[in-house]
Amino acid sequence: MASVLIVGGEGRAHALGWKLAQSPKVSQIYFAPGNGGTSTIGQNIDIGVDDLASLIKFAKKNKIDLTVVSPEPPLVAGIVDLFKTAGLPIFGPSAKAAMIEGSKVFSADFMLRHNIPHPASTPVSTLAEANAYIKKRSPKDYVIKADGLAAGKGVIVPKTPAEAEDAVINIMKKQIFGVAGRQVVFQERLSGQEVSAFALSDGRKIIMLPFVQDHKQVFDGDKGPNTGGMGAYGQPPFMTNQLAERIKIEIMQPAIDGMRADATPYRGLLYGGLFITDDGDPKAIEFNCRFGDPECQVLMMLIDEDLYPFLYGCATGELPKDSIKTKPGASAIVCLASKGYPGRYETGYEVEGLEKVKDPDVMIFHAGTKVEGGRVITSGGRVLGITAYGSDLKNALSKVYAQIGSDKVHFKDMHHRTDIGFRVL
Ligand code: AMP
Ligand code: GLY
Repeated sequence: MASVLIVGGEGRAHALGWKLAQSPKVSQIYFAPGNGGTSTIGQNIDIGVDDLASLIKFAKKNKIDLTVVSPEPPLVAGIVDLFKTAGLPIFGPSAKAAMIEGSKVFSADFMLRHNIPHPASTPVSTLAEANAYIKKRSPKDYVIKADGLAAGKGVIVPKTPAEAEDAVINIMKKQIFGVAGRQVVFQERLSGQEVSAFALSDGRKIIMLPFVQDHKQVFDGDKGPNTGGMGAYGQPPFMTNQLAERIKIEIMQPAIDGMRADATPYRGLLYGGLFITDDGDPKAIEFNCRFGDPECQVLMMLIDEDLYPFLYGCATGELPKDSIKTKPGASAIVCLASKGYPGRYETGYEVEGLEKVKDPDVMIFHAGTKVEGGRVITSGGRVLGITAYGSDLKNALSKVYAQIGSDKVHFKDMHHRTDIGFRVL
């Protein structure tokens, strides 16, 4: 029986733990640091995701059989390389392979070299170059991306040249994302449906998971600033088998093959952020080196097979099968956030009504929560993800929304979107 360590404390970490806890091969799950929900399925340990030295010490001492890394910062910082050197199986890409998310300049160059369909991208490393680019073009034609990790907030979609100029000053001069903004990438602006693609890989073979559509903006109708994601569902009705196959063959498999050809084999979960353009062609706007959050919660509700052997197989070099069983129907999540997120917000409010959730098709994945004196208290921007499985998208969404309200699950200054799925319903 296996002991698993999940590095993370977000909704995604809770969902991964929930799924792995159902494995007959797993007897114990630790979360570092976990949240108010993970303590009900495993043991939270007080180690942060960036404290690699303490994490490896813990894994050795507790004879962890598999470590699963949920968020990107420890991957980019090299947690997988450290664990591998110590002979400890760990799910996720090496630091070099994680560059596919860690640097937009790297990823634009990678897609170009390996013929992966993507929007034209121009990296610049000085403010003068950036301003010269802005002067030559209409702001409607491009988006601006900070090179490095910016917690999902590093993409600016400008409406006016002045907004674009402000953005490059903020990123490159004022360094609002720190060193992530030393370079920026201007990328041709696409329109169409956005979809997230997920592939498990052992470095060679890939297994595609269901496709999911995220809702990044904070308000209904895709208004307001980008967040980590306010809600998601899978799989979108526009994802035909033919389109899914094209994405596998034209984007996801070439990315894995390209990483191997570049001597940085990619093992773990590869996340492709895609547009299906108005012409019907899939293009990759970015790659991420981990599951999406909240897309992971949707995926975990749809996977109908023991996940442990798949994650262990990626970590140790060979996926056990060519595909993974998934449920028919749909799954959806709506994130309950603290008012003010993704900007400033208050925490410390009690979450009420959790005990009223009785529907067996509903799972509440915690994110920014902690337990204090037996009460669940808000401690972050995204607080909970109400997730449901249903016969179709409408059915799944009705089960989710039925749980939210002042007489159901709620907390003070709660904010959530009321239109998840609107682009296809
Ligand atoms: P990312 O962090 O790359 O996922 O980008 C965040 C959001 O910015 C995406 O979900 C899109 O809505 C938007 N975006 C990023 N790249 C492009 C692009 N090339 N064209 C249009 N919108 C984009
Ligand atoms: N939900 C978007 C992300 O995880 O990057």
